[in-house]
Amino acid sequence: MKKIFLTGASSGIGKAIAMALTEQGHEVWGTSRDASRLPNISRLHPVGFDLSDPRSIEAAFNSALAQAGHFDVVINNAGAGHFGPAENLSAETIANQFQLLVFGHVQLMQLALAAMRAREHGLIINVTSLASRLPVPFMAAYNAAKAAMAAFTMSIQLELPDSRVRIIDLQPGDICTEFNSAVDKRAQHDSRYEAEVAKTWVMVERNMAAAPKPELVAGHVLKFIDQASPPPRVTVGDTFQSKLAPFIFRFLPQRVRIWGLKKYYGL
Ligand SMILES: NC(=O)c1ccc[n+]([C@@H]2O[C@H](COP(=O)([O-])OP(=O)(O)OC[C@H]3O[C@@H](n4cnc5c(N)ncnc54)[C@H](OP(=O)(O)O)[C@@H]3O)[C@@H](O)[C@H]2O)c1
Repeated sequence: MKKIFLTGASSGIGKAIAMALTEQGHEVWGTSRDASRLPNISRLHPVGFDLSDPRSIEAAFNSALAQAGHFDVVINNAGAGHFGPAENLSAETIANQFQLLVFGHVQLMQLALAAMRAREHGLIINVTSLASRLPVPFMAAYNAAKAAMAAFTMSIQLELPDSRVRIIDLQPGDICTEFNSAVDKRAQHDSRYEAEVAKTWVMVERNMAAAPKPELVAGHVLKFIDQASPPPRVTVGDTFQSKLAPFIFRFLPQRVRIWGLKKYYGL
């Protein structure tokens, strides 16, 4: 039995991970901004947690740690996106994305590392996104924040002293969750973008509806928590998004990458 701290356990990928882990007999401290949204299942300990507030991150982790005694695994999963033209994005939207997806995730990773240092053992899974490498149009701050978190994760993988603490950068492609319904679409945009924004949103919704279920990600997590040497980075999604597209992308000149992504989104 492992003790696991999991953010964003109320919905989508996090909820599927929470269900899979507790079914296997693991104890999960699962977070939400509203603990009543968490599934009412045994071995799931509800934790209130808001990524937009650094004090909430620290208090939530420390009180869960005091209850658990230690964590074998910390899963940095919670997050949300925005949608609108990069040209018109407000500084507030950009800052909010970076608070949630970079500063909040880094803060939790550092808390987890400090807690794991004493035992020199543990696994941290940072859920970033395939969007860190293959950006989605009109999600510039989200793409950039996920790319920053992926780079931060790789940097820490380079630096970590020899120990049995491992970190995985888990990059989902499209996974069918509630993610789109929480997307912040308040960005002001001028008429030049209207048609393209609408067209891309249709594509984004269509991709999400056709995407694999979050249980696919949960299945990978179940596998990783038992591996002595899990992969440092893994992409999870359908075969095209998780295998073919990143492979082909690697060898293309930037001009062709941009052309290909525009074609993919119908722009
Ligand atoms: N679905 C995809 O296609 C996809 C692809 C690549 C990466 N991802 C990443 O996977 C992670 C999970 O997304 P999902 O698809 O499962 O979305 P989801 O169904 O919308 O779930 C998001 C989770 O994050 C929590 N959350 C949102 N904002 C938060 C905040 N400010 N503070 C604390 N918790 C917050 C939500 O909890 P409450 O609202 O209850 O607080 C919820 O449990 C995210 O990091 C997302 O960027 C998703």
